[in-house]
Amino acid sequence: MSEKNQYKVTTPQPVLMTEIVMPQHTNPIGVIFGGVIMSWIDIASAIAAGRHCKTHVATASIDAIQFIKPIHLGWIVTIRASINRVWHSSMEIGLHLSAENSLADEEHHSASAYVTMVALNNDGKAVKVPDIVIETDEEKRRYRQAGERREQRLKAKKTAEKQA
Ligand SMILES: CC(C)(COP(=O)(O)OP(=O)(O)OC[C@H]1O[C@@H](n2cnc3c(N)ncnc32)[C@H](O)[C@@H]1OP(=O)(O)O)[C@@H](O)C(=O)NCCC(=O)NCCS
Repeated sequence: MSEKNQYKVTTPQPVLMTEIVMPQHTNPIGVIFGGVIMSWIDIASAIAAGRHCKTHVATASIDAIQFIKPIHLGWIVTIRASINRVWHSSMEIGLHLSAENSLADEEHHSASAYVTMVALNNDGKAVKVPDIVIETDEEKRRYRQAGERREQRLKAKKTAEKQA
């Protein structure tokens, strides 16, 4: 990719990922495992980040996830992943997960998550992420809050490194 494209400021479109909960995703009472949701969240984040950067990406961290309501066998899960903010080589992806019981015509918000992805070159070295356009009040709020979350996660990283 040319340097011009690499640094072009763009408005990335959110990634929408849809899955159906199958028997292999659930525990014996037919509720999805949290780890399956985390895997889908990670994949949606990697798609959002990779599509924006047009490089390899790696997951640096996933903030604490609260599973708000159970999701059952046969339900449809939709994950919306958007880039909230980019720094130098890292970016925060905000994810909203909803679950739909199409038989009962019922849909609810099941989880939210924030994932930090890092853009990498072919040698696995962190590289610059193209900037994004921040325009609306909602985008500005997400941008500001992403900065607050980054401070917390970099503190948590230092603590983890000390304990390692
Ligand atoms: C994430 C990783 C690529 C960072 O590489 P690094 O050589 O440590 O590079 P740096 O310390 O310069 O960090 C690169 C960027 O990531 C950010 N970062 C690193 N660790 C982070 C963390 N735990 N949470 C949030 N951001 C983090 C840094 O702040 C920096 O951001 P910036 O360039 O936008 O300012 C590296 O630690 C790694 O490969 N980790 C394992 C990733 C992986 O395998 N994930 C899959 C699950 S194990």
